[in-house]
Amino acid sequence: MIVVFLGPPGAGKGTQAQRLASEKGFIHISTGDLLREAVKRGTLLGLKAKEYMDRGELVPDDLIVAMIKEKLPKEGRVILDGFPRTVNQAQALDKMLEEINDKVEKVILFEVPDEIVIERLSGRRIDPKTGKVYHIKYNPPPKGLKVIQRDDDREEVIKKRLEVYRKQTQPLVDYYRQKGNLEVVDASQSPDEVYREILTKLGIS
Ligand code: AP5
Repeated sequence: MIVVFLGPPGAGKGTQAQRLASEKGFIHISTGDLLREAVKRGTLLGLKAKEYMDRGELVPDDLIVAMIKEKLPKEGRVILDGFPRTVNQAQALDKMLEEINDKVEKVILFEVPDEIVIERLSGRRIDPKTGKVYHIKYNPPPKGLKVIQRDDDREEVIKKRLEVYRKQTQPLVDYYRQKGNLEVVDASQSPDEVYREILTKLGIS
């Protein structure tokens, strides 16, 4: 079962995907996490990706598609978080899945206004050891845990990421709506409420 999480930066995709992975056995594939890992390890992909990520722009499609081809499991419940992000990437994914007789089962669109996105991203903190996501107000890290802020969570980069989302990723809403597998979730609710809505939309109890 392949599920795509689509939505603006800071909508809560990673938070919900982490919970579905730990409670429902989903394999969570986040292109953002994979790229940050490549940057940290200083691989060729990491070196190429870093300049785009720091500017809040998308990393070129060919690099992303090659990375997903390597990581996509042949079976199991999978969440693709942050991929696809362009129509080109969506077409490449469809082709990849066709070859193994599979398809995107559901696309969950996280709908949330810009003001909430900005507040969520500016308060986001990460545990660098586990990658677990926290928020200084909505989900504070345990006392004593050393957390970090992402380089691209600075205000000017957040604005750019939102602009890029609207221009390059939003066309995917129509792409999947036409295919009939788009489900919209109100991501401005509390994390528990969003989680319950996703489970209902996926038909999981
Ligand atoms: P990526 O890492 O994918 O970033 P993003 O899509 O911008 O998404 P975020 O991780 O910022 O947000 P999220 O929706 O996961 O929110 P989260 O759960 O953390 O991509 C980074 C960069 O990599 C891109 O800019 C691009 O350069 C590159 N890239 C990645 N994929 C690519 C691709 N396919 N093609 C090309 N380039 C690619 O939540 C945010 C905060 O809010 C947290 O603090 C959380 O605790 C809090 N929160 C979550 N839910 C709630 C809630 N319901 N109520 C209150 N607070 C909440």
